[in-house]
Amino acid sequence: MEKGLKIAVIGGGSSYTPELVEGFINRHHELPVRELWLVDIPEGEGKLNIVGELARRMVIKAGIDMTIYLTLDRRQALAGADFVTTQFRVGLLAARQKDEAIPLKYGVIGQETNGPGGLFKALRTIPVILEITKDIDELCPEAWLVNFTNPAGMITEAVLRHSNVKKVVGLCNVPIGMKMDLAEVLEVEADRLEIQFAGLNHMVYGLDVFLDGISIKEKALAAASDPGKQTSMKNIAALGWEPDFIKGLGVLPCPYHRYYYKTDEMLAEELEAFETTGTRADVVKGVETELFDLYKNVELQTKPEQLEKRGGAYYSEAACSLINSIYNNKQDVQPVNTKNCGAIAGLPYDSAVEVNCIITKEGPKPITVGELPVAVRGLVQQIKSFERTAVEAAVSGDYYNALTAMAINPLVPSDTIAKHLLDDMLEAHKDYLPAFFHSEKA
Ligand code: G6P
Repeated sequence: MEKGLKIAVIGGGSSYTPELVEGFINRHHELPVRELWLVDIPEGEGKLNIVGELARRMVIKAGIDMTIYLTLDRRQALAGADFVTTQFRVGLLAARQKDEAIPLKYGVIGQETNGPGGLFKALRTIPVILEITKDIDELCPEAWLVNFTNPAGMITEAVLRHSNVKKVVGLCNVPIGMKMDLAEVLEVEADRLEIQFAGLNHMVYGLDVFLDGISIKEKALAAASDPGKQTSMKNIAALGWEPDFIKGLGVLPCPYHRYYYKTDEMLAEELEAFETTGTRADVVKGVETELFDLYKNVELQTKPEQLEKRGGAYYSEAACSLINSIYNNKQDVQPVNTKNCGAIAGLPYDSAVEVNCIITKEGPKPITVGELPVAVRGLVQQIKSFERTAVEAAVSGDYYNALTAMAINPLVPSDTIAKHLLDDMLEAHKDYLPAFFHSEKA
């Protein structure tokens, strides 16, 4: 009998897990996952049990040979795993709430993965992923690490540059979301569209768009900025683009670019939402309560459609297709976060970039892009400088690195605001930043 695969999911109690289980069920004929280990921390045990039971019901309904294991012992889950996926949140939603709320006091965008919020999510998460990679190196050195933990670009960069695990791929649902949205506004089937993606995580552009292999870039740019057809991800307000700006830019922005090209409007929208519905973390807390109430229902045997209220739609599609293509050496094209290796000129060779790759059994092979268009090159380079500085700060616990990262982020307007914000956020997240509080602080 064919040897089955063992997959370990770190952060297995996440409300997104049913997506992943559905993805594995749908591909079981070619991706024989026999053991799916869902791991969580003690604080997540209640959620792990609820999600785990739903996963078991889904597998029974599908009638496939896959066993779901639930554990709080990460090492047991990792031992001999073929693939490890990571989808955890250090400090849970309470920490995200602070990342989103504190910057608003300073008139700065408060966002989970961009600006000061993204910096602090990286500072909390990188030390934890680096601990996990030590376990991977010891217990399953041949495994592929597929990371969806945010900020996915910086996490991938940290693993690539600061761990022994080189078989790492960072995943995001933004590219697939852009493709699905574009297909909808163009009223064509998504599988007829190809987008040439290049940039960084949550800073990716569509450099060209093809329908049945023929470039339709102008039409795509016009459709994506048509005031009547604006789309976005569930977690980002769909404020309309200026059609002439997008035409002039000449490439398709991602939904997160609104924070950079419409900063004032996005800030105003966030401040208004803060007064009414609260931060996105507050909204997500409500959605999670609703989801876990549904998951508890023993009659439920499939992924509920309410999961679509989360911003992470199509994650399982991206993750399971990637794992499938590595396992089966499909050599198809997928946009992932991987080591640049010169694919995008003007970005460091050893940095993580988000770019179309050919997915082989040896992992993603980035497709060469060359220089990014001059209109977007500077912003991408600036964000990469921020990311590299932030990763150094997370690894070293160095206050000056953290302050530099904060101040050079384009969403932070001044060095003085950067310092006040940094001090405020360091204090707020103290419990999750041991590296900063064991070293001398200025
Ligand atoms: C988008 C991003 C993800 C992020 C999600 C947040 O889809 O690409 O990286 O995790 O939004 O969604 P949420 O429902 O948690 O706000």
